[in-house]
Amino acid sequence: MKKNLLSGVKPTGRPHIGNYFGAMKQFVDAQTLGQYDCHLFIADYHALNLIQDADQMRELTLDLVLDYLAIGLDPKKSIIFKQSDVPAHTELAWIFDTIVTMPYLERAHAFKDAEAKSKEINVGTFNYPVLMAADILLYDTDVVPVGQDQKQHVEYARDIALKFNHIFKSDTFKLPEPLILESVATVPGIDGRKMSKSYNNTIPLFASREEIQKTVMSIVTDSNGPEAGGVPANVYAIHKLFRSEGDLKALYETNKGKYKILKEALIEDTDTFIKPLRERREKLVGAVKNVVKVLEEGAKAANEKASVKLIEVKKAIGVL
Ligand code: TYM
Repeated sequence: MKKNLLSGVKPTGRPHIGNYFGAMKQFVDAQTLGQYDCHLFIADYHALNLIQDADQMRELTLDLVLDYLAIGLDPKKSIIFKQSDVPAHTELAWIFDTIVTMPYLERAHAFKDAEAKSKEINVGTFNYPVLMAADILLYDTDVVPVGQDQKQHVEYARDIALKFNHIFKSDTFKLPEPLILESVATVPGIDGRKMSKSYNNTIPLFASREEIQKTVMSIVTDSNGPEAGGVPANVYAIHKLFRSEGDLKALYETNKGKYKILKEALIEDTDTFIKPLRERREKLVGAVKNVVKVLEEGAKAANEKASVKLIEVKKAIGVL
């Protein structure tokens, strides 16, 4: 039997190259390798913490399916589905809620960040890691390709699996491992901080050439600071995604201090990379029927697997 791989993306806006290199590329690579049964989903119930407008939710969800297809995910090879289509996720999350303590969830980085920023946190944000544990554990997942920011969530899933197995004296859940590639664990944005929709520092994965130009030209550089050596750190850090460091060494040495030339080179390399993805996505737009079908078939396959696991869980806790 093949090992199981599972991961998800929230439909909260256009994905960026940080999402792609940190996680989504690993989905496609895994699918190509054929080593795993791949389960790739749209985390719409997680997104509901942020997206609370029905039209927007629908649109962002369909967009993300198009994004999945455009990067090369194939519904014939991977199970592609929407979290809300598989009720076992929220059902299992409730069961986990009864064994997870509040202090444990209060220690989660994401919760602490949210608490530092906002006045009132909803219960969905607090419980985020519990639903995520359910997502992962329902499919006997072995590996979870994610960026560094999700590492703790996978550890939470492991802890919850161990706790459940211990309390209910069973071996119901497998322990998942995060799959994090060191070189792209935290892709930096145009200001050097982690690339993130919420920091407004992203290069969208399907950006137009004009957007790429505008964004790259606005990358923050500092010729008086630590970059006095003539290498603009934020430009270089993004450039590394598209070209080998060997290649870049020559380019950056020849053009020391010439930030405009270096940015123009980055624009070319970014566009060369994005163009085929963008074109593939443009061809898919309009095929909404196809997207709906992908989700219907994905939901069927995911429900089949998840319901078997949920019966096992229900037997372990004694409601069946
Ligand atoms: P989300 O939608 O925020 O991000 C999707 C994936 O992109 C990765 N990522 C990055 N990787 C490297 N550098 C960056 N700058 C960067 N920004 C984002 C994220 O680590 C993530 O892998 N909680 C998840 C969604 C989710 C999930 C799951 C994932 C829900 N249930 C179960 C795996 C398994 C999230 O917020 O992803």
